[in-house]
Amino acid sequence: MKQLKKPLPKVILIGAGRLAKHLGLRLKEMEVPVIQVFSRTKRKAQSLAKKLNCDATIDLKAISTKADLYILAVHDNAIGEVAAKLSSQKGLKDKLFVHTSGATPSTVFKPHFKHYGIFYPLQTFSTNRIPDFGQIPICIDARYAKDRKSLTVLAQELSDKVYPINDEQRAILHVAAVFVNNFSNHMFSIAAKIAEDNELPFDLLRPLLLETALKVQFNPPSKMQTGPAVRKDANTINQHLVYLEEHYLAYAALYQMLSESISK
Ligand SMILES: NC(=O)c1ccc[n+]([C@@H]2O[C@H](COP(=O)([O-])OP(=O)(O)OC[C@H]3O[C@@H](n4cnc5c(N)ncnc54)[C@H](OP(=O)(O)O)[C@@H]3O)[C@@H](O)[C@H]2O)c1
Repeated sequence: MKQLKKPLPKVILIGAGRLAKHLGLRLKEMEVPVIQVFSRTKRKAQSLAKKLNCDATIDLKAISTKADLYILAVHDNAIGEVAAKLSSQKGLKDKLFVHTSGATPSTVFKPHFKHYGIFYPLQTFSTNRIPDFGQIPICIDARYAKDRKSLTVLAQELSDKVYPINDEQRAILHVAAVFVNNFSNHMFSIAAKIAEDNELPFDLLRPLLLETALKVQFNPPSKMQTGPAVRKDANTINQHLVYLEEHYLAYAALYQMLSESISK
């Protein structure tokens, strides 16, 4: 027997950057109707709309009123400004608006809309890398229980991992996410620079990097710490600091700070 389709919302994507692209592709893959894409940049709006087989616009005043859900995937600093502009348009006042930011409270919408919430996929999105969307945690929140429910239904269509997370929790989660992704990636960049400046390929370090990430999938990170700082191996630490102070002074300070944090 054919399964009944859940009532899925008609979606409009405001923004055509990295997150909008990957979210849009996943919505299309799961047959959630995306009816329009907005971007200030015509080329980007048209390119994503073509992929999603929908309309494109560069004019916020031309945003269709026929959608059920408006997803703002714009720069964090632009969410309030875009919401304010959209709220002046007839026919949008009672629609459901969400944004995709980890750091911005849902209440950014409060002066402008009655129905608002959050649709935050906790993953790092880059232009040319296709993520396994079904495994991405999607953090959901909404002002009203009914909207929370419809966002949960939609998120469950896209991913196996859907979490109700309020503004306060999401702000904290975002701090943790910065450590997990942004800072660790910066460490990889420093390692790549030091290696490549010395004609050592970064490939030598990639298996170590991968194993570091894999082993914390099954164990607490604090129990997996290795290296001179956790061993309190002062000789090795001093040797590294002498090298860094001579060649990479800015990294020496970072090395010292991180070593102290590990050994505490
Ligand atoms: N990328 C990630 O890994 C990731 C992960 C989780 C959550 N997020 C969140 O998702 C949102 C979008 O991030 P992103 O990485 O997709 O950013 P992005 O690739 O830099 O794209 C930003 C989008 O915002 C638009 N924009 C910027 N300022 C605007 C303004 N004043 N008015 C209208 N549109 C404006 C840009 O339009 P133009 O192209 O015309 O400049 C572009 O479409 C952010 O809230 C971010 O925190 C991102």
